[in-house]
Amino acid sequence: MAALFVLASFISLAAASSAFENFVVQESRQSAPDAFAHLGPAAGDSMINLRIALPSQNVSGLEADLLDVSDPKSANYGNHLSKDEANAFLAPTTHAVSAVQGWLASKGLVGKISGAGNWISVAVNTSTANEMLAAEYQTFRHIASGRTYQRTLSYSLPSELANVVDIIHPTVVFDPPATGRPVLSAPRSRPRATPPASCAITITPFLACIQSLYNIPTTKSSFSNIAVSDLKTFLQLFRPDISSSTSFTVQTLDGGSNPQGTGEAGIEANLDIQYTVGLATGVPVVFVSVGENNQDGDLDGFLDLINFLNSETSVPGVLTVSYGFAGENAISNALAMQFCNACMALTARGTTIIFASGDAQACTTFIPAFPAGCPFITVVGSVGGVSPETGSSFSSGGFSNFFPSPSYQTASVQSFLQAQGSKNAGLFNPLGRAFPDVAAQGEDIEIVVGGATGLVAGTSASAPIFASVIALINSQRIAEGKAPLGFLNPLLYANPGMFNDITTGSNPGCGTSGFSARVGWDAVTGLGTPNFVTFVAALT
Ligand SMILES: *[C@@H]1O[C@H](CO)[C@@H](O)[C@H](O)[C@H]1NC(C)=O
Ligand SMILES: *[C@@H]1O[C@H](CO)[C@@H](O)[C@H](O)[C@H]1NC(C)=O
Repeated sequence: MAALFVLASFISLAAASSAFENFVVQESRQSAPDAFAHLGPAAGDSMINLRIALPSQNVSGLEADLLDVSDPKSANYGNHLSKDEANAFLAPTTHAVSAVQGWLASKGLVGKISGAGNWISVAVNTSTANEMLAAEYQTFRHIASGRTYQRTLSYSLPSELANVVDIIHPTVVFDPPATGRPVLSAPRSRPRATPPASCAITITPFLACIQSLYNIPTTKSSFSNIAVSDLKTFLQLFRPDISSSTSFTVQTLDGGSNPQGTGEAGIEANLDIQYTVGLATGVPVVFVSVGENNQDGDLDGFLDLINFLNSETSVPGVLTVSYGFAGENAISNALAMQFCNACMALTARGTTIIFASGDAQACTTFIPAFPAGCPFITVVGSVGGVSPETGSSFSSGGFSNFFPSPSYQTASVQSFLQAQGSKNAGLFNPLGRAFPDVAAQGEDIEIVVGGATGLVAGTSASAPIFASVIALINSQRIAEGKAPLGFLNPLLYANPGMFNDITTGSNPGCGTSGFSARVGWDAVTGLGTPNFVTFVAALT
């Protein structure tokens, strides 16, 4: 016994003296993407928040449990996982956590644990980051937006850590600025098409038009909160039946701010808030404002948002996000998986996660949007017009190159592929996770910004509209003592009849005519637009 003990001590001493010295390259790339210009070495004193992802212990177990509680035919339908149950699947081993914390401690640093315990973050200057990761952080400018980024073309880890760290971000992934920010245009001067009658008149009854199109109830339930001027004007104009002091709460992350500006972020925030508070009558809305004026990029905001929610005790019934990334290929596969796994844990706890599908098709071959390919979120495309509703030309749809087709959609997508024959063959991955899942109005959407009415278009309008329908259904279910819907997709694909099937429109791009809307699921409008009444009927 004693001898063994001595030997063990000797080994650990030997290890300690040479600890963290043999570096192994973790990830590298030849050069920055063409969309970025190299400006020179990053200033040594500029800060970077390194987010270290540790390997999860049981991702497939989480997926199996999620599919069980989300399958309407399962006895466990709606039995959402607790925080501890969900996070236990994604947690890393205690050995991995102590190895990473030990390494950070050897640099005088303490990592902050977030997410399901599988992310450890630490803020350091780039000079320290270069030393810790045998990296060379440089400053790059994203040419189109002018935004600067700090990235390295390669990073290494001490050999002891090679198997206990999955990835570190931001390092070699050049995530472009998120897209989906709507551009404000002048108010409508032409009348809306008929019917329904409520859609026929200009401007004022637009929310009523959407309520009528999708059979959304307008029943009031009172609650009050902070008042916001633009929201007040919007509600006075479009929902005179509900109190214009109805508001929402703001949660800030990463130095985010209360989004009251009239700039780009202000338009997006106004759109999201006006079409959730305005449609989901009485449902408390929390606006999570994620800071974006840092050199870490927008992907960090997404990661921090999901990781923040996963570490909260109670989670929202619906999370709707109108931003996305135009090209899945700009994100590494490993980072995409980490993000999608975090979404899986959140939706397993009963949060429906909704993302806009995106407003453009990237080219060469079709490059799918991100995170639309993640199978655990519900992706919303766009339609315009009312009689009939028609798939919007900008409604991004397609097939992931990272995520395989999940079983819940395979039959629906196969029917679509058979129907369209050889169209666009070779330009997309027919075995990939296909999107969007659903669609909602996204053209000529009226919002109020800075007291003035304007129009926006984009799937970023469709996402909050669809989210509001789900929030109202959740409200009704909770009033009946039922669980919120949580992960929707298995339910949706098993009940296509609850949607208004959209069969006209297409999303041309990349010099092709794109995909066409068809009977059944299609890569422009998914299963179609929601109908509150048939949705509720299908649930009972
Ligand atoms: C970076 O941070 C370290 C640790 O706080 C500090 O000692 C060092 O002076 C900093 N380097 C620069 C260039 O600011
Ligand atoms: C992973 O989770 C599944 C589902 O709960 C469970 O059956 C399996 O034993 C777990 N595997 C490991 C290695 O913990």
